[in-house]
Amino acid sequence: METGEIIQIFAESGFQIDPQALDAMRTSSHEQIRHVVKTMDSSVLVVGIEHIRPLVHDPLQKHISLPLSEIPVKKDLTPVKNKILESPVTILKDITNQSTCIGEYTEFVQYFRDRYSSLGEILRKRLGARPIESLKKRNLDTREPLSVIGMVLDIKTTSNGHKLIQIEDTTGTLRILIHKERDKELFDSANHILLDEVIGITGTLSSDGNLMFVNRISWPEIPNSQKVTLEGKKAVGKAVFISDIHVGSKTFLEDSWLRFIDWLGDEINYLVIAGDVVDGIGIFPGQDKELAISDIYEQYEKAAQYLNAVPKHIKIIISPGNHDAVRQAEPQPRFPERITGMFRNDIIFVGNPAMVDIGVKVLIYHGRSMDDIIASIPGFSYTEPNKPMHEMLKLRHLSPIYGGRVSIAPEKKDHFVINEIPDILHCGHVHTVGVSRYRDVLTINSGTWQSQTEFQKRMNLMPVPARATLVDLAGMEYKIMDFN
Ligand SMILES: [Fe+2]
Repeated sequence: METGEIIQIFAESGFQIDPQALDAMRTSSHEQIRHVVKTMDSSVLVVGIEHIRPLVHDPLQKHISLPLSEIPVKKDLTPVKNKILESPVTILKDITNQSTCIGEYTEFVQYFRDRYSSLGEILRKRLGARPIESLKKRNLDTREPLSVIGMVLDIKTTSNGHKLIQIEDTTGTLRILIHKERDKELFDSANHILLDEVIGITGTLSSDGNLMFVNRISWPEIPNSQKVTLEGKKAVGKAVFISDIHVGSKTFLEDSWLRFIDWLGDEINYLVIAGDVVDGIGIFPGQDKELAISDIYEQYEKAAQYLNAVPKHIKIIISPGNHDAVRQAEPQPRFPERITGMFRNDIIFVGNPAMVDIGVKVLIYHGRSMDDIIASIPGFSYTEPNKPMHEMLKLRHLSPIYGGRVSIAPEKKDHFVINEIPDILHCGHVHTVGVSRYRDVLTINSGTWQSQTEFQKRMNLMPVPARATLVDLAGMEYKIMDFN
C-alpha cells in the first residue's frame, strides 16, 4: 500500500504514525491496517513500532498474520452502563496440588474401590442391593427378584446374540444375562453398558446361583429436576464457552478468532475454556508438519497474547486438554507457573476436570473419554457430542473406561465421579458442536478454532470450527455464535 494512503487511514482516526511503523505497515493489506487502527488504544498519539510490528506474510502461516506482540488489545471502556464490576469465581473441585499417585498397583486397587463405593452409594439409596457373595447361599428363593451393585468387568455377546456381562463387587463376581428378545427396551439399554462403570442389576438367579437373568438395569443417574437448587440462586450475567483453540497449528483460524475477540462485549462476564489452548508438540505422529509454531512455550506466548486481548472485565477460566503441556494422565492439574506466568494475572487456571461456581455450577472436562465412549456404544458418533456427555451424567462419571484412550492416574479419590450435580457440563476435545439439555443440566460441547487438519482428514473427521456458546446465566438460555 502507498505510504500516503496508510498515513491517511491513521490520520482519519486521529493517530500519527512514525516512519519506522509506517515502513513496517507497507506490506499489509487495507483490511489489516483498518483492523490495527480500529483496535489501537485511544491513548496512543504517535503510533510507533512498539504498537505495530511488520505483519508476517509467510504463506505457511497464512492464519497467523500478526506477530506475537501485535495482537490488538481491545479497548476497555469505563465506565460502562451494563458492566458488572464483580464476576466472582469459586473453585469447587480441582485436582491441582491434590495429586498423590505414583502409579503403584495398590493405588489402582484403592482408586477402583473409591469409584465403586462413591457410585454404589448413589445407587444404594434407590436399590436394596445385597453383596454378590450372599447370592451363593443355598436357602435363597431363586424365583424372587434380587438386586446387586457391581462394576462391569467384562461384556460379551453369546453365540445366540444375548448379552453376557460379568460384574464385580467387593465380595465377588457374578455373570448376568440380558436376553435379546425378552425385553427389547432392556436389551437396547444394555448396549450402553460400558466397561468399568458401576451399575445396579435386578433379576432372578439360576438354580445354581451362578447366573442372574436381568429384569432391570439401574444407573446412578442425576435427578430429574434440580430446580430447587437453581431457584435459590442469584446467577447474573453471561458466560461464553469455548474450547480447543489450538494456537500454534497452521490450521488455527486467526481471522475468526479476532472476530470473536472483537465481539466480546460489555455484557459478557465469563469466558470458560475447556482445554487444548495450544496445539502442543508430539501429540500425534507427523504433527510437526502441521505446526506454525514448533516451540511449545512460543505457542503459549502467542496464546497469552490472544487471551490477554480479551476485554479486561471478562473473567477467563482455563482448564487443560490432552494437547496442553501438563501430565497426560487424567485428572490433569492446571498449567505450571512457567505457562500461567505468560498470561494476565486475573485469569483463573484450573485442572481437568474441575468444578467452578460462577453463579451456576460449571463442570469443565476436556472430554478425552468421549473417544472411548463413542467407540463403545452403537450409534454414537463424533457428529453428536452431546450423546456421550449425556451418558457421563447418567453414569455420574466422566471417564468410566479404564485402559482405553484415557490414561487414568490412580488417585486416592476418583475425581471423575460426579458427586455434585452441575448446572452446566462443558466439554471439548471432539471439535464438533453440540448444546442440549439432559434433565436440568445444560451440556455444551463448544467445537474448536482450528479447521480440518491432515490427521482429521485421514480419520474422516469434519470439525465445526469458530463457534462460541453464549449462556445467559439467569435463565440458562443459550445461543451458538458463528465466527466463520
Ligand atoms: Fe482439541
